[in-house]
Amino acid sequence: MSEILIETRDLTKIYGDGDQVRAPDGVNIQVIRGEFLAVMGPSGSRKSTLLNMLGALDRPTRGQVFINGQDLRRVRNLDRFRAKTVGFVFQMHNLIPTLNAQENVETPLMGQVAGAGKRHKRARELLELVGLADRMGHLPSQLSGGQRQRVAIARALANQPALILADEPTGNLDSQSGTDVIALLRQLNIELATTIIVVTHDPSVARQTNRVLVMRDGKVSDDHRVGHPFEEDLKEFRHSGLGRAFLARDNGALVWVKSNGVEAAMAQLLTN
Ligand SMILES: Nc1ncnc2c1ncn2[C@@H]1O[C@H](COP(=O)(O)OP(=O)(O)OP(=O)(O)O)[C@@H](O)[C@H]1O
Ligand SMILES: [Mg+2]
Repeated sequence: MSEILIETRDLTKIYGDGDQVRAPDGVNIQVIRGEFLAVMGPSGSRKSTLLNMLGALDRPTRGQVFINGQDLRRVRNLDRFRAKTVGFVFQMHNLIPTLNAQENVETPLMGQVAGAGKRHKRARELLELVGLADRMGHLPSQLSGGQRQRVAIARALANQPALILADEPTGNLDSQSGTDVIALLRQLNIELATTIIVVTHDPSVARQTNRVLVMRDGKVSDDHRVGHPFEEDLKEFRHSGLGRAFLARDNGALVWVKSNGVEAAMAQLLTN
């Protein structure tokens, strides 16, 4: 499997035919598997348009998007492709108001996972993963904003997508709920190795990621890495012999430890 999950070549969207607006305009980026990438930039810099093209929600006017080496122009059934490969999280959680948390998480499993029992089980596991084991039967209106966003994240994870695209997932949340949601995304990025792209206006959110891409007028004006030595160590550990043995033993769940240095992480893992 290639290290590169997403590649764009000359990705361009043109709106209008008279006074043409090009944006994104000739974007060439590569996203490595397992990256946690923030997309920043002023309002109207076409961050959402870029994200929607990466997730095959919108078609480019020119250029290409490759996901897993596959040219999206050649994908016959885009709905199916999206359902299997991409999980979306939006600023407005977009949950179905008449369905409870568990039922909302099950919706993407319809047509993908046969058997109601299996779907219930998977939804319950996902809600446990996002810390909502005790809220499964609640309707969206009975949940806080942060909890709703966590349900939306569980739903995005339902089909074990390689990629999560989140467009301002903390935009409507108070700062504590926003911090919790980003911590959750970061945890999923490390534990499940899910590649995550998050559009955000908040520099404190961007600091939690591995890489920040800044858009300006539809072009990438800056692209830099954010160093997290501890997380790099954890990722390396994950792929080591010892790490793999641990992951096999514990169903792939890596303990999330908020301390410094890989020794502390390993000690924690081994005594768990
Ligand atoms: N269907 C359309 N026709 C014409 N222009 C469009 C269309 N859709 C989007 N745009 C243009 O794209 C711009 C918004 O781009 P986009 O939503 O990607 O920006 P953004 O960086 O996500 O902004 P924000 O930070 O406010 O969410 C609008 O200003 C509009 O001019
Ligand atoms: Mg936007």
